Amino acid sequence: MNIRPARIDDLMGMQACNLQNLPENYTMKYYMYHELTWPQVSFVAEDNGRIVGYILAKMEEEISDGDEPHGHVTSISVLRTYRRLGLAKRLMVQSQEAMATVYRASYVSLHVRKSNRAALALYKDTLGFEVKDIEKKYYADGEDAYAMRLSLKYIS
Ligand code: ACO
Repeated sequence: MNIRPARIDDLMGMQACNLQNLPENYTMKYYMYHELTWPQVSFVAEDNGRIVGYILAKMEEEISDGDEPHGHVTSISVLRTYRRLGLAKRLMVQSQEAMATVYRASYVSLHVRKSNRAALALYKDTLGFEVKDIEKKYYADGEDAYAMRLSLKYIS
């Protein structure tokens, strides 16, 4: 499996993968916005030309007083038959490195459902993210989100 930066012609495959894996879906315009604005921080996992995993990421645009530039993972997923092969970890690490080196991001943030055991294990145990906050009823169905963060100071 090849991991490489996402290109415009990957966006349909990324959207198809997202639709299969997650209830949080986005318009093609939003994928395009990520890719045109921060082309270095989104990546795909490809198997024989098929997109089997992706990370859609960006830099945070609204930085409050005293905050530092930081990246944000909008969405990550891997097709069911390609899971537990280390693809999500590789996608996350590549995006984190690009956020830190290209944009001098000091940390990366994301939201995850409280019930998402697999993703929580990936973020907390494998990558070292910490829970910063609980955002009540963050998701459309009323589930709470953990707002998580990982410092990228280890890269720069
Ligand atoms: N149960 C427990 N721990 C898990 C699981 C699981 N099902 N899956 C991954 N992990 C943890 C393990 O610690 C694993 O390391 P190990 O295999 O050495 O034990 C580590 O994460 C790395 O696993 P990867 O193989 O890199 O993860 P994978 O490629 O399978 O993708 C993902 C993980 C993205 C969560 C996948 O299960 C998925 O696509 N789920 C549905 C979509 C989703 O929930 N996306 C995240 C939403 S939050 C957001 O997008 C910001």
